[in-house]
Amino acid sequence: SACATGSSYIMALDCGTTSVRASIIDQYGCIVAAASRAVKTSYPHPGWVEQDPTEILASQLAVMIEVQFKSGIHSDGIAAVGISNQRETTVVWERDSAQPICNAIVWQCRRTAPIAEALKEHGMEDMIRKKTGLRPDAYFSATKIAWILENVSGAREAAEAGQLMFGTIDTWLIYNLTGGKVFATEYTNASRTMLFNIHTLDWDDELLRIMDIPRCMLPDVRWSAGEFGRVCSDIMTHTPPIAGVAGDQQASLFGHCCFAPGQTKNTYGTGCFMLMNTGEQVVESNHGLVSTIGIAQGGSVSYALEGSIFHAGSVMQWLRDRLQIISDVADTEMIARSRQSNDGCYLVPAFTGLGAPWWDPDARALIWGLTSASDRACLVRAACESMAYQSYDVLRAMEADADIRLSSLSVDGAASRNGFIMQFQADLLGIPIVRSESIETTSLGAAFLAGLAVGYWEDREELEQSCGASKRFEPKADESRARDLAGWHAAVAKAAGSPDGARE
Ligand code: G3P
Repeated sequence: SACATGSSYIMALDCGTTSVRASIIDQYGCIVAAASRAVKTSYPHPGWVEQDPTEILASQLAVMIEVQFKSGIHSDGIAAVGISNQRETTVVWERDSAQPICNAIVWQCRRTAPIAEALKEHGMEDMIRKKTGLRPDAYFSATKIAWILENVSGAREAAEAGQLMFGTIDTWLIYNLTGGKVFATEYTNASRTMLFNIHTLDWDDELLRIMDIPRCMLPDVRWSAGEFGRVCSDIMTHTPPIAGVAGDQQASLFGHCCFAPGQTKNTYGTGCFMLMNTGEQVVESNHGLVSTIGIAQGGSVSYALEGSIFHAGSVMQWLRDRLQIISDVADTEMIARSRQSNDGCYLVPAFTGLGAPWWDPDARALIWGLTSASDRACLVRAACESMAYQSYDVLRAMEADADIRLSSLSVDGAASRNGFIMQFQADLLGIPIVRSESIETTSLGAAFLAGLAVGYWEDREELEQSCGASKRFEPKADESRARDLAGWHAAVAKAAGSPDGARE
């Protein structure tokens, strides 16, 4: 087999919100080479977030080429390609020309909040939750597609005539990488659209009717592991199969080998996403989380509880690019450590409202507790702490919903490199934080799915041997943490968008 000779590799594509990557992964789950590029984002109005799908694709193709050059491993050495992607982000393109009809509406974008509100006002919340596991919110793709059909001139007629295609970023990539041959997605990405019934595993006609979205725009939905089609020869000469696809957060769950119910991971990326495997059971949340498809491999679906935090690592970019008070995100650890405490200063990064567990689209970011003594370090520390507080709130909600107490939390993502944040997180939660050896767990998960599909790896047991933990952050008792949390919750209450959004 490919594994026995060691002469072949898996290529993992991670098409994220902030950057796109291509990695080459060997049979031990080691990343032997990687290339990445930043993705441009535009903010045409307050709360609006867009990206150019053509540029995302071009950058993804560029890093696929670059990683082959860097490693000297070319397409004849690639047994399969796996894809993980930023979820919910919505692309609509013309069937004939394959040209997008407008920019992609990014998951963080709040422009469709009124559509989500209207769904609630019409009493749809329960039905939507039962079918999709989600709550009506601008975050998910459905309202974004509806907005495009309503607001892009000619879109509705073209869609009805079968001339438009909708895809999340996975579908957009698969379509283009296969030279327009394959129009498909898979269960984990589909479960984030608010159009997919997570029990029947099919697009839901009632939801499509309510959202007024023609079914012919939607891709075919498949399992996460299996052949999706071959990369066309203009892109990779030896046309390896695309054999594994999952939304990035589900890919990371798989990359952490969270195969058993109760196992939980948190990824500190652009946002923070905590997922707990709940097995064959859909656990309904009473604490502001959503239910989603966690793993769709091996002939059965594992569901997950998810807490989605909209702004985490993106706060660091904001400090760097907008406020310009740091030049390199890597410096934030040292800067945060230069302070003994937060001195009562909090940053609530509700730039596009708040996600789990608050779900307040009208909340806006604030910095609270400034004094004349506040300086750059104070803000940087508050930004670092904000990731840990938000994750704390989500984890407590998750424990309440699933009625279990976690004994440790697996983490990955760029900001998990920051040892200050990880230690602060362990202290807040009172449990060890276990950081995996490779913080690119998302890419690893996509590779695992693709590799299982083509027999590069035998089974999940074999994968578990490549899931190494590198560092544990043990919780230290510190009585100031209770005060910190109280200050945080007071600040969150102040960020609320409406008076009735006031929180404990
Ligand atoms: O739901 C959005 C999520 O998939 C985005 O992930 O890694 O780009 O922050 P990331």
